[in-house]
Amino acid sequence: MARLVYRSYAKLNLTLEVLRRRDDGYHDLASLVHTISLADDLHIDSAPELMTRVEGLDIDPDTNLVALAAQLLAATARVGTGAELTLHKRIPAAAGLGGGSSDAATTLVGLNSLWGSRVHLGELSRLAAQLGSDVPFFVRGGAALMRGRGDDLEVLPALSGQWFVIIVPTHDVRAKTKRLYAALEPTDFSSGELTSIAAERLRQHVPLAEDHLTNVFARAARTIFPELPLVWTEAEARCGRQFFLSGAGPALFALAKHRADARQQQAKLARMGLPAYAARTVKHARASIRFAADPAIGYP
Ligand code: C5P
Repeated sequence: MARLVYRSYAKLNLTLEVLRRRDDGYHDLASLVHTISLADDLHIDSAPELMTRVEGLDIDPDTNLVALAAQLLAATARVGTGAELTLHKRIPAAAGLGGGSSDAATTLVGLNSLWGSRVHLGELSRLAAQLGSDVPFFVRGGAALMRGRGDDLEVLPALSGQWFVIIVPTHDVRAKTKRLYAALEPTDFSSGELTSIAAERLRQHVPLAEDHLTNVFARAARTIFPELPLVWTEAEARCGRQFFLSGAGPALFALAKHRADARQQQAKLARMGLPAYAARTVKHARASIRFAADPAIGYP
C-alpha cells in the first residue's frame, strides 16, 4: 500500500495591508508571507474510496479543507480511485497561521503524486484558489509577496533561520476571517508601502526588524476577540518586545534573536496557560517525511 507522509507548514503574515474593498466582496491586499516550522502531518494511503480522518483536533473531517481539496482534485483529474487521508493537527485552527490552507495545498500536491494525475502547477494553483485565498501560496510556500485577493504571488528569497515566538489566544468566533474583513474601516486601509519595503529587504537578503512588520486587523481584532487585548499586553510585558497579529488573528508573534531566545520567550508565554510556540522560517510549504532520518526537515 503506497504511503506518503508530508509535514505541512504553517505561515506568518509578516506584513498584512489591505488597500481597498473590491466590487466582488473581497479585499485587495499586500502581504509578506513566510512559511514557518510549526506543522501538521498528513498521511496519504491508497484506498478504493476517499476517506479523511483528523487527529488532535475536534473538526468534522467531511467539511475539512483536506476533504474538499481531495474531492476537487478527484473531480478535475477524473480519478477513478480514492485515498485515505489522516491529518495529525499541531497548528492551532482558525488562528491566522494558515494550517487548514497548508493542509489543503498538501492534499492537492500529495494526491496528484499518489494518483499520478499529472495536473500541472498552474492548474493546481487555480484549484487552490477555489479552496481559499491563501491556499495558492501553500502550493509552493517559502517567502512570497501576496497581492490581489491573495492569489497573485511573487516568490521572494526566503529568510534563513529567522526565529519567532508565537502565542495563540483561544476564541469561538465563527467565520472569523469574514467578520474581521467586514469590521475594517477605510482608516485601516494603507498603500502597501510597508509591505513593499519589507519585500525589498528580502530581495536584498537583509533581515527584518519590528519597524517593518504591520497588520491591518490590529484594531478590529481587539474588538472581536475578547481575550486578545489582555493577552497582547501581557505577552509584550513578559517578553519585552512588540507582538504582531498573523492573518486575521488571533495568533500573535514576535521576532526572536535566535533559537535559544525563541525558546526562552516561549517558556515565559507558556506560563500564561495558552499554546505558545518557538518556530523558524522554512523555505518550502511542505517536506516529505517518508525518510524521517533527515534532520534538515526536522521539527524545531
Ligand atoms: O478566501 P477565503 O475563504 O479564505 O476568505 C474568507 C472570507 O474572507 C471571504 O469570504 C471574504 O469575506 C474575506 N476575504 C476578503 N478579502 C480577501 C480574502 C478574504 O474580503 N482578500
